[in-house]
Amino acid sequence: MLATKQQCVILVTGANKGIGFHVVKKLLNESSSNNTVILLGSRDLKRGQDAFEQLGSPSNVHILQLDMSSIESINQAINEIKEKYGGQLDIVINNAGILLKDFTVDAARKTFAVNYYSIKLLNEQLLSMIRKNGRIINVSSQLGPIALHESSAILQDKYTSSTLTIKELDQLVEDFIAAIETNTLKDLGYHNKTNSLIYSISKAALNALTQIEAREWSTSKNLLIVSVSPGFCATDMTQNASNARSPEIGADSILHAVNTSQNELQNGGFYRDGTQLSLIFEPIPSS
Ligand SMILES: NC(=O)c1ccc[n+]([C@@H]2O[C@H](COP(=O)([O-])OP(=O)(O)OC[C@H]3O[C@@H](n4cnc5c(N)ncnc54)[C@H](OP(=O)(O)O)[C@@H]3O)[C@@H](O)[C@H]2O)c1
Repeated sequence: MLATKQQCVILVTGANKGIGFHVVKKLLNESSSNNTVILLGSRDLKRGQDAFEQLGSPSNVHILQLDMSSIESINQAINEIKEKYGGQLDIVINNAGILLKDFTVDAARKTFAVNYYSIKLLNEQLLSMIRKNGRIINVSSQLGPIALHESSAILQDKYTSSTLTIKELDQLVEDFIAAIETNTLKDLGYHNKTNSLIYSISKAALNALTQIEAREWSTSKNLLIVSVSPGFCATDMTQNASNARSPEIGADSILHAVNTSQNELQNGGFYRDGTQLSLIFEPIPSS
């Protein structure tokens, strides 16, 4: 068993490259190897191993095979955390995410599987293993609030309602996916102004999930549960866009939610670079 009571155990999913990799690198730099154990989540062991070597094979980083599109893989990873790392975690950073180009039901199913359903499942399964004062950080995107800004007022109310339940949120997600098949998104109130609507709505759903998790779970163990946007970063997801900021800066946005004291953050809130943002994008009025 590697973890002891004094150690802080942090899981970062999708950490073999991009923003997740830099989150691990920064956690490593700011921690002492005696008191922090980092589980570097990677769906592919070889890619995880390569990332581990790039970090200099530190003794307090361990690769955890975790494919967020597979329930079996999630269950296996949970067993591994129990068996190898004492079954206790302090911080879970749900960073793994996908953005597919196709606008099809299949693409929507795949996107929501990784960006929404698997995070919901992983968090539910890990809840009993997260220690008092622990944190769950769901990595989201401002595209979620932007898509809600472009959606009907009814949808905006539903996604941001303080009484929304997981069952109702799942239904919103399923209705969205079904409407892609029947080409009825407009009737439901979604306005397809962006070509990444599926990804955007998966992140709007993740923000809504974060609010529900915070409402339902935060009090029992004094947990902090927030969503964070890393901002537009140059990674494989964005084809390393030349006008984007570096993934290191994106990682800082996530690290802010790791390091800021709990009473300075709003449970269930959505943050970027330490600033809380609205769940529905608010454009700056033109003068
Ligand atoms: N880049 C941006 O501008 C931006 C903006 C807002 C939000 N975000 C969010 O930030 C997070 C990280 O994005 P990124 O830009 O670093 O993307 P990235 O470079 O494409 O990295 C994504 C990471 O997620 C992993 N991943 C993909 N599917 C997975 C699965 N089924 N199971 C486990 N891991 C999986 C990838 O692993 P493989 O190497 O195996 O594919 C990779 O490690 C995502 O949640 C993204 O939505 C990014």
